[in-house]
Amino acid sequence: MSTATAALFTCPLGDDAALIPRTAAIADAYQALLEANYERLAHWFPGAFDKPPTPEGTRADLERAGRAWLDGSQLPLAITVQAEDGWRLAGWVNLLIDGPARSAEVGYWLGAGFEGRGLVTRAVTAVLDHAFGQLGLHRVELQTTADNERSRSVARRLGFTQEGVLREAAAFPGERRDVVVHGLLAREWHKAASPG
Ligand SMILES: CC(C)(COP(=O)(O)OP(=O)(O)OC[C@H]1O[C@@H](n2cnc3c(N)ncnc32)[C@H](O)[C@@H]1OP(=O)(O)O)[C@@H](O)C(=O)NCCC(=O)NCCS
Repeated sequence: MSTATAALFTCPLGDDAALIPRTAAIADAYQALLEANYERLAHWFPGAFDKPPTPEGTRADLERAGRAWLDGSQLPLAITVQAEDGWRLAGWVNLLIDGPARSAEVGYWLGAGFEGRGLVTRAVTAVLDHAFGQLGLHRVELQTTADNERSRSVARRLGFTQEGVLREAAAFPGERRDVVVHGLLAREWHKAASPG
């Protein structure tokens, strides 16, 4: 079972879910979530999930994420949901920040069984509020492979503009796929938040 409890900081996503920091404090639950999902995720993230995750590799990855958070180059988050027996780790959200350019790239995934309830839409909404609010960013980018309909729906739902296609840019074993680039600007986000 993947549980994550007693996080020092949480950002509520409604009554049934919350964002927590993705650091070494959640190593065991995160390893369990990766073990259950890496084969599925390999289909969508070129190169990132080709091998089964190891506890040592996962911990090192989380420690890197924690350092990147402290130096301001990343906002590494995990999505947790409330289950009957406590909080359960459900997914991953990340903001990769280019401070000098005041821009960032957002990424996300959910574990199997957590799709279809708006978790990523809600999580990315909170991240965009922070990115365009407290962090003062000007632009956030979101990239998906062209065949990733669910992810493209997330981009559309959040008001991103499709800006272009990087032809055959994603290298998967035995095939290359097009990558769709979406962008959202601070003024578009603020306007959507306060229409009229
Ligand atoms: C891409 C991915 C995160 C999208 O998951 P998702 O469940 O479709 O996205 P959300 O969590 O935002 O949920 C949206 C769905 O919940 C529904 N929903 C329910 N409550 C909602 C709410 N409060 N807000 C928004 N949507 C809500 C929507 O209608 C939508 O339903 P649909 O699937 O019938 O269209 C998921 O498919 C995934 O992890 N895929 C594998 C990894 C991946 O592709 N990552 C992205 C790489 S670019």
